[in-house]
Amino acid sequence: MQASAKAQPNIALIKYWGKRDRARNLPAVGSISVTLADLYTEMDINLDADVDSDVLIVNGSVDEQMLPRISRCLDMVAGDQRNAATIDSRSNFPVAAGLASSASAFAAAVVATAAAAGLERTTAELARLAGRASGSAARSLYGGFVELEMSDDDIAVSSLIPADAWPLKVVIAITAGGPKPIGSGEAMEISRKTSPFYKCWVDDQAQDLDAARSAIKNGDFDGLANTAEHNCLKMHSVMWTSRPAVVYWNAATLECLRAIRDLRSQGVGTFFTVDAGPQVKAICLAEDEARVRDALQSVPGVLSIITSGLGPGARLTRPA
Ligand code: DP6
Repeated sequence: MQASAKAQPNIALIKYWGKRDRARNLPAVGSISVTLADLYTEMDINLDADVDSDVLIVNGSVDEQMLPRISRCLDMVAGDQRNAATIDSRSNFPVAAGLASSASAFAAAVVATAAAAGLERTTAELARLAGRASGSAARSLYGGFVELEMSDDDIAVSSLIPADAWPLKVVIAITAGGPKPIGSGEAMEISRKTSPFYKCWVDDQAQDLDAARSAIKNGDFDGLANTAEHNCLKMHSVMWTSRPAVVYWNAATLECLRAIRDLRSQGVGTFFTVDAGPQVKAICLAEDEARVRDALQSVPGVLSIITSGLGPGARLTRPA
C-alpha cells in the first residue's frame, strides 16, 4: 500500500484559461505545453488502515492548506472508502509561484495513488484524473510537447512529439518570491464572468492550437514563437480586463519580455511565455540558451534564473 512517483511541471505554450464545467474541472479550451526535465516533484503515498486521517507533508513541513485538494484527488483515484494516506511531497523548485507546482504535484499524486491502491490505470485515465484535480496537471502525465484536447464530455491528452525530437530549452526568470496573490482556478472564474474579451479568447483558441501544432510537427521555431507569444498576451489581456483586474506581472516581468523581444530581433532563437505569476519563461533553441540566460540575468529585478530541458511524463519510481 505504498508507492512513489516523480513528475515534472509543464509550461503551456497555448494556454488553458477558463472552465466550461467547474464541477468536473473541465477546461473551456484546449492547450499545448512542454514538459520540463530538470524541475520535479517526488511524492510518496502510503495508504495505511491504521492511520485515522490524511497527512500532507510538503518539503518537510505539514501543509494543511493544500491537504483538502490533495485528499479529494486521492479519493478520485482510489475511491472515498480508501485507507487514510500519509503523503510526502518534495519539489526542487519554489511552489505556488507560477511555476506549475500543482501540475507536477497532482500528476505525481495520481500515479503514486493508483499504484499504492493496487489499481491498473492507463496513462490516458491517469491524465483525466489529474485533470479533475488541476487542469494543467493532466498534461504532466506525458513528456515532450503535449496537447490537451477538449471535447463536450471530457479531456483527451496526448504527446505530439517526444522531448528528444525537438530538444528546446526553457530559461525561467524569477522576478518575485512567495505565493501568488490569487490562485489560477479562482482567477479564471473571475475572467469567465467579467472579461469582455473572454468569449473572443475561447472562440480564437482553435486557430492558435492548429498553428502551434503544425509549427511543432514541422520544427518551425518562428511559427511557434509568434503563436505562443500572441496566445500568452491574449490570455493576460483577458486577465487584465477582468473585474477585479487580475494582474500577475511586475516591472521586471515586462523588462524580461522586452529583453526577449530584443534578442529575437537580433536573430536569437527565443520567445516568452508568462503564466499565473510574475515569472517569465523564455523558450529557446539549445544553441541560444546561454545567451538568453545571460541577458535575463542582467535584467533589473530578476532575482534568479532556473534552466531546464524538456523531459518525460510522470512515472512510478517505487515499486519501479
Ligand atoms: C495560466 O491548471 O492551475 O498556467 O484547473 O484550476 O487547477 P486549475 O488551474 P491550473 O491553471 C493553469 C493556468 C495557466 C495556463 C496553463 O497552464 O495552461
